[in-house]
Amino acid sequence: MTTYTIISALVLAIPAVFIYRKIFAGSANPTSTGATAGTSEKAQEEPKTIMQPPPDDLAPPKDDPFTLEQLKPYDGSDPSKPIYVAIKGTVFDVSRKRETYGKGGSYNLFAGRDASRALGMSSLKEQDASPDYSTLSESDMKVLNDWHEFFSKRYSIVGKVVDLPPAVANL
Ligand code: HEM
Repeated sequence: MTTYTIISALVLAIPAVFIYRKIFAGSANPTSTGATAGTSEKAQEEPKTIMQPPPDDLAPPKDDPFTLEQLKPYDGSDPSKPIYVAIKGTVFDVSRKRETYGKGGSYNLFAGRDASRALGMSSLKEQDASPDYSTLSESDMKVLNDWHEFFSKRYSIVGKVVDLPPAVANL
């Protein structure tokens, strides 16, 4: 009877462990979706998020100067122009995500400008879309830096903003 019980338990347990491992294989944090605003470093490192993996064909970084005014035409409203997003003065070409950053896209607020303050605050409000991130809290600053890292891995750098507000110009 005891032997029979042990064998039955094994017969049930082995497939159960197998199924469990199949479901959670490679996923250290099954609740991670990448959908929260402000990526943590952890979310970026994990291969299993809904974010697209970073491309391996980024163009070498360029150092072209842009004024905030000169960035405006690259806000996605002209389909013949690339779309640029500036973060802490670094100008990224996000054209391959035109549906996200172009006209009507969820994150069009960030296109054709430097809206570092809004990124740090996880805000999509026009009033927060300012290049002056100097008064962000320490935790919002961390969020902003994480976004800068996120964009650096995914998008080519095409230049830098040369007329940031004085409070952040030399940071
Ligand atoms: C309910 C709240 C939100 C949801 C459900 C959400 C969802 C998502 C999803 C699904 C993606 C991945 C999109 C893709 O790879 O195509 C994404 C990316 C992103 N989210 Fe959000 N989001 C939310 C709020 C915010 C807020 C408040 C901000 C403002 C900072 C924000 C900024 C971004 C940015 C910059 C990306 C990166 C897009 C890229 O270049 O791939 N999100 N979000």
